[in-house]
Amino acid sequence: MPKSKIAGIGMYVPSQVVTNNDLTQYMETSDQWIQERTGIQERRFAHRTDETTTTMAVEASKIAIERAGITAQDIDFIVFATLSPDYYFPGCGVLVQRALKMKEIGALDVRNQCSGFVYALSVADQFIKTGMYKNILVIGAEKHSFGLDFTTRGRNVSVIFGDGAGAVVLQPTEAANKGILSTHLHSDGEAAEILAMYNPGTHANYWADKNYASFNDALIGDMFMSHDMIDNAQNFPFMDGPSVFKKAVVKFPEVIVEALTANGKTAADIDMLIPHQANLRISQFVQQTLKLSDDKVYNNIQKYGNTTAASVPIALCEAWEAGKIKEGDLVCLAAFGSGFTWASALLQW
Ligand code: UT7
Repeated sequence: MPKSKIAGIGMYVPSQVVTNNDLTQYMETSDQWIQERTGIQERRFAHRTDETTTTMAVEASKIAIERAGITAQDIDFIVFATLSPDYYFPGCGVLVQRALKMKEIGALDVRNQCSGFVYALSVADQFIKTGMYKNILVIGAEKHSFGLDFTTRGRNVSVIFGDGAGAVVLQPTEAANKGILSTHLHSDGEAAEILAMYNPGTHANYWADKNYASFNDALIGDMFMSHDMIDNAQNFPFMDGPSVFKKAVVKFPEVIVEALTANGKTAADIDMLIPHQANLRISQFVQQTLKLSDDKVYNNIQKYGNTTAASVPIALCEAWEAGKIKEGDLVCLAAFGSGFTWASALLQW
């Protein structure tokens, strides 16, 4: 059975830099608070009208496709991970298919938030291993800036997130020392509501009974989005940050060790860990737990903030472009986020 290899990788971040000080115009926050709690110094925001999740994904994809030495017409499947799609439906995969004038190939959207890219990679990996597809485009992209609460009320969420996209092309390989060794996917829906965007959604009566979200007596017209929901800021993501943090620092190391153990390796064998860029403090905690030196963990949250599904492919692309990942290196990708879902992938570059 062939393995999957990353044959090409690309990234795109918007040119507009938004510093922590820029955010102080809109809310009570400070550069010091944001840096101390998250490590973030600045993030990129997409152009309000000219850039979408899909347009950024297309730019990253063009680079990945070119680096794989193929054309867009050679791609035979798309897996697109995002929580900020251009439309509620259809998904972004078909928009990439259209924009890049691809053949009438399958396009699948994955909704796993921060772990979305690793989940998407795992799905694509299975299709390559079975021999069904030969050139799969796997994308993680987000335009968070369109839908965050940029007031003091929403500051615990809005200062964290940024926009961007990353993409890889997966191809089969028979080489012994190359490719994805294994992927590991997990979920625990018990705390689904502590990091969530409730609306628009069909939860109305069901979740009202459970007291997870508050809204007025639901009329049919209120099920997706009402003026009340907007007035009460229920159209923005909600996050109980400290609870997410506590779970993340347990699940990140756990799923990394799971991947290492499955392949008879230990943390000492890792050449490069690419953690989802949720919070620099989380990455540092994971690094300490696994006793990894600074050169074995790549972080760029300082420049881009948390780009959710895009963070792993952007970090992987930057690390590779900087020459920090070389042929044969053991690379571990790991992510944790809303759901909760968490995942890892161990690969030889
Ligand atoms: O990628 C998706 C997964 N997400 C994560 O992994 C996020 C995990 N959680 C975190 O990264 C952290 O919990 C945060 C960075 C979100 C928050 O940091 P924290 O150290 O947990 O702060 P906190 O929420 O406990 O808030 C501490 C204080 C509060 O004020 P009081 O009640 O102590 O007076 C907040 O109101 O900081 C206040 N605060 C802010 N102050 C200035 C919250 N946000 C801000 C802000 N600027 N932006």
